[in-house]
Amino acid sequence: MKKILITRKLIKESEDKAAKTFDPIFNSNDELYSQPKVIEMSKGCDGILSSLTDKMDQETINQLPDTIKIISNFAVGFGNIDLDAAKKRGITVTNTPEVLSDATAEIGILLILGACRRAAEGIESAKVGGWKWSADYLIGKQLTGTRLGILGMGRIGQKIAKIARSLGMIIHYHNRSKLSEDKELGAVYHKDIKSLFSVSDVLSICCPATKETENMINKETVEFFPKGAIITNVARGDIIDDEALIDALNRRKIYAVGLDVYKNEPNLNPGYLQIKSAFILPHLGSATKDTRIAMANLAIDNIDDFFKTGNCKNKVN
Ligand code: GLV
Repeated sequence: MKKILITRKLIKESEDKAAKTFDPIFNSNDELYSQPKVIEMSKGCDGILSSLTDKMDQETINQLPDTIKIISNFAVGFGNIDLDAAKKRGITVTNTPEVLSDATAEIGILLILGACRRAAEGIESAKVGGWKWSADYLIGKQLTGTRLGILGMGRIGQKIAKIARSLGMIIHYHNRSKLSEDKELGAVYHKDIKSLFSVSDVLSICCPATKETENMINKETVEFFPKGAIITNVARGDIIDDEALIDALNRRKIYAVGLDVYKNEPNLNPGYLQIKSAFILPHLGSATKDTRIAMANLAIDNIDDFFKTGNCKNKVN
């Protein structure tokens, strides 16, 4: 049986499956392993089932034992892994796409609703009590008739578009390539981000974090938005230059944000905490039981298929 280091504690059903499939090393206390600890614990292992909290950078990957042949990431995003460094060492990297699209899209919609309808301020007022209802109390932005820009129209972006359309939003998007009409469903394609941002009353960031998308929301690009636009992010924190966005929020160029992901999680930029209109969540995108089990099943199957056939369907490098 192949020996696999599982860096984070999984739901019981998933650990049961892992124990039937290979010889696993579990992390029963769910300790956050340091990079040297991952290197140390992977000695004698054939593979690693990693999570988005493991920073598998070049330095770490170069020190992994030669026996490691696969890193199966328990996430659709794989910005935590240096794919080139893994490839150079002959290590296959896999992810868990599709199974989390619905759950993540739900959080994407929650961010849009929360930011547009001033949920953060509302929750705060309700807790403090004694609020005074009035005709203009906590007036927010209605979704009906509002233009939603989707940055990255993959599976999650398309699902968000579908729900948002049913709420009466008008969908615009930017993607590396234009979708076919049956997938576009009337959404307006923009070849570049300047064009997309200029019509986005609300933006939903759904694209992967790559070298090209890093800090795509920055000092220059926030100026492309209509005044008072709302920016939401269900993808990865690396896509936003936090200082630029916080500055735009303070100037009311950007009216509100809905964020589930951050640079340096869980230490989000404290500037967001001072912004009343910031609706912020602690990276809940895929956090439902069914989805987490489906993700773990896929991460386990990727390892199993790889060792049985030399291939697996979710290889990303
Ligand atoms: C969650 O953020 C994921 O990438 O799976």
